[in-house]
Amino acid sequence: MQQDKIKLLLIVGTSRQDSNSLKASEFVKGIVETKYADTFEIKMATPSDFDLPLDGRGGEFSDPKYSELVGWSDAYFIVAPEYNHGYSGSLKRLLDSEYDDYKNKPVAIAGVSSGPIGGARMIESLIDVTHQLGMITLFDKVYFSSVHEIFGESEVDPQWHQRVEKVLDSLSKWARVLKNNRQELL
Ligand SMILES: Cc1cc2nc3c(=O)[nH]c(=O)nc-3n(C[C@H](O)[C@H](O)[C@H](O)COP(=O)(O)O)c2cc1C
Repeated sequence: MQQDKIKLLLIVGTSRQDSNSLKASEFVKGIVETKYADTFEIKMATPSDFDLPLDGRGGEFSDPKYSELVGWSDAYFIVAPEYNHGYSGSLKRLLDSEYDDYKNKPVAIAGVSSGPIGGARMIESLIDVTHQLGMITLFDKVYFSSVHEIFGESEVDPQWHQRVEKVLDSLSKWARVLKNNRQELL
């Protein structure tokens, strides 16, 4: 029996110009659209796509465009840079603008850094946030270390395809399990 596609929201964790995280996100999106076209329907979002003042209350705190995307999604994939061992303020602001609709949906995380450990320290602190938002954080991660060498002039090394595919395989399984049991989990 043919199953519905999993609705995947890919969240880019920065709006910095010429961001390597954006390149890494486009790389992930490209893999989804070629190898996983029958599994996922993908949409991508960056913090600057939305009208989110730094502070706000009630309705001002969220942007209906983002709320709709969060509600639409069955799964999330966050690709985020490491800034001073943490995640960006703009990613936190975006994630904080919603609450209930993240619950019991899986999230994959990829860290991006120019350093040698691929945003591992950022990922550790982002896990606390995704947990508090009620997402189910996958065990497998992608660590885009020395990122400027990955997305240079030449073809991306196959090892990075394999790492992203491993995470997408896990994300699709978790998304199906959780989607099929969402009512019981409420
Ligand atoms: C404010 C700031 C802080 C940074 N802190 C770190 C860091 O703690 N560790 C690291 O490996 N790279 C650090 N970097 C370098 C980023 O990892 C690098 O810019 C990488 O390309 C990912 O960020 P991007 O998506 O903005 O390009 C920092 C960059 C900025 C702009």
